[in-house]
Amino acid sequence: MGHVPVLLDEVVEGLAPQDGDVIVDGTLGGGGYMRAILKAANCHVVGVDRDETAIERANASDDYDGRLTPVLGCFGEMATLLPAAGYEAVDGITLDLGVSSFQLDEAERGFSFMRDGPLDMRMGGDGPSAADVINTLPEKALADIIFRLGEEKQSRRIAKSISARRLKAPFTTTLDLASHIEDAMGGRRGARTHPATRSFQAIRMFVNDELGELARALDACEALMRPGGRLAIVTFHSLEDRMVKQFLKERAGQTGGGSRYLPAPEAGRAPSFNLIKRKAIEPGEAETQANPRARSAKLRLAVRTDAPAWGEPVDTGFNLPGLDSVEVSS
Ligand SMILES: C[S@@+](CC[C@H](N)C(=O)[O-])C[C@H]1O[C@@H](n2cnc3c(N)ncnc32)[C@H](O)[C@@H]1O
Repeated sequence: MGHVPVLLDEVVEGLAPQDGDVIVDGTLGGGGYMRAILKAANCHVVGVDRDETAIERANASDDYDGRLTPVLGCFGEMATLLPAAGYEAVDGITLDLGVSSFQLDEAERGFSFMRDGPLDMRMGGDGPSAADVINTLPEKALADIIFRLGEEKQSRRIAKSISARRLKAPFTTTLDLASHIEDAMGGRRGARTHPATRSFQAIRMFVNDELGELARALDACEALMRPGGRLAIVTFHSLEDRMVKQFLKERAGQTGGGSRYLPAPEAGRAPSFNLIKRKAIEPGEAETQANPRARSAKLRLAVRTDAPAWGEPVDTGFNLPGLDSVEVSS
């Protein structure tokens, strides 16, 4: 089965596309948002994805009357990708974070602890793989990543057990790692979710620098959006939602500063965004019943004002080792 888009109606309503608009879908994936946006108005969509297969899928279809421009790349680099594709300013941007069902379902991509595959987890093809991270990072760094990004209380025990085992045989497959983590945690103990869920999420987020990507994207959205342009961001992780929330609150002039993600704002600075809704929009009962992946989704909506961009880089709020500290195997 393909990818079932989460909070689809709410995202399209939030973006409110008009005829002639240019809307960026920064996470094209299976194209669910993109198709709904193109249907809602006679607008143009620039569809960004770091995964070649998502771009190939979009290029293979001629269903969009020339109203779709697929762009291969990271949304954290939108500030250079979009002008290079001919778009200096846009009327709306949406991001739907995380991985698609296409990526999860394909064992070869190495995202799933349910399907055996190489320990990869890269959404785009470059940089260190999950195997590089698991087999080479120092035990403490591994524990910190699993604790901070996976919010896993047993992170130290898991990291210790991984570093003892990899001395004898490096980890190369997803199921090997998943069952090792399960054993290190003392088995399932009746838990509803697989014991490796949080550790896998943490490693995936680290391998793809997901918090760093989001921080750079928020900055780029502020720079690229025209006055009146609308921003719609769907997150599935509390750290990501917190970063979006803090960014928008601050840019809307609703904090006194002091957030762990952002430097204190200059007094009297004009807000660069207005919040469309103060609270995040969450899926209703019917959607979470039909699509369990929607359970942790949160949508935040904002409108760009005509004030200049603040242009202050957003910080992830985490001091974790960089991807450049990981040894890459050939
Ligand atoms: C949850 S899916 C999006 C699904 C899409 N909204 C739909 O309706 O089909 C996330 C997609 O974003 C892509 N992605 C994740 N992080 C990215 C990044 N930093 N830059 C570009 N694409 C990214 C993934 O490769 C994946 O295809």
